[in-house]
Amino acid sequence: MKRYRDKVALVTGGASGIGAAIGARLVAEGASVVLVDIDEVGLGRQQGAETVVADVTDSAQVQGAVARTVERFGRLDAAFNVAGSARFGTVVDGDEEDWRWTVDLVLRGVYLSTRHEARAMAPGSAIVNISSLNAHVPLYGASSYAAAKAGVEMFTKNAALELGDRGIRVNAILPGLIRTPLTAGFLDGGPIEKDFVTRIVAARAGDPDEIAGPALFLAGDDASYVNGTSLVVDGGWEITNYPDLRPLLHPPSP
Ligand SMILES: NC(=O)c1ccc[n+]([C@@H]2O[C@H](COP(=O)([O-])OP(=O)(O)OC[C@H]3O[C@@H](n4cnc5c(N)ncnc54)[C@H](O)[C@@H]3O)[C@@H](O)[C@H]2O)c1
Repeated sequence: MKRYRDKVALVTGGASGIGAAIGARLVAEGASVVLVDIDEVGLGRQQGAETVVADVTDSAQVQGAVARTVERFGRLDAAFNVAGSARFGTVVDGDEEDWRWTVDLVLRGVYLSTRHEARAMAPGSAIVNISSLNAHVPLYGASSYAAAKAGVEMFTKNAALELGDRGIRVNAILPGLIRTPLTAGFLDGGPIEKDFVTRIVAARAGDPDEIAGPALFLAGDDASYVNGTSLVVDGGWEITNYPDLRPLLHPPSP
């Protein structure tokens, strides 16, 4: 399918993981793609897309990346705000500067990206922000990240409300546990990985491409009536808080 033929798309955080997967899928579906990231080496590994080195926490750099996109391809139809990371530290003992750094990147980065992208977009365009399941579920040692991701979810609704007048839709995806360099420390086959996976109905971490598919749906014409909402994409993780009653309902035969 070439659902993005004749469309121009920008992806922040496009040098790695989920952003790279979204970029690759956009290229495969016919879009003209600009990947934006601070990681020049990672950008160099991506194929079929233009790249811009820029920091999403710097307003002028984000504005410049959007301007380069419009200069090169004449328009901007779809934007995916994926760049993000976390510095860990507990509320009491963590470093205050790490807290500020994480919120600045995760929340203000999405705000700045949305602001400059929307200014360049025509009616019929769409933005997808990557939040996290941690918008709904706390992450021990990462209150900055979880709070900022919750902020991204609400920011997305607010942006959808305000950008309605411009005919721009804005939606969020809340990924669960996805196998990328960001989560490599959790996914090393050790006890923490097992603990995570027993809570996921799919019983495995997701692949970045399993976020790319829903992201392209939300920014595409099939989602023309979807606006201001969040899509949890977590293999059924959020629904597993209740104890597993299968042994009660289906006792092992004697
Ligand atoms: N992997 C998961 O399980 C998971 C789950 C929920 C949400 N997320 C979110 O998905 C997004 C992508 O994560 P990922 O797992 O693909 O991680 P990743 O580390 O593979 O990719 C993140 C990318 O963002 C870029 N980046 C970081 N700071 C930047 C900045 N200031 N300006 C521009 N680019 C910057 C990095 O260079 C990197 O290429 C993040 O927002 C993350 O919080 C990931």
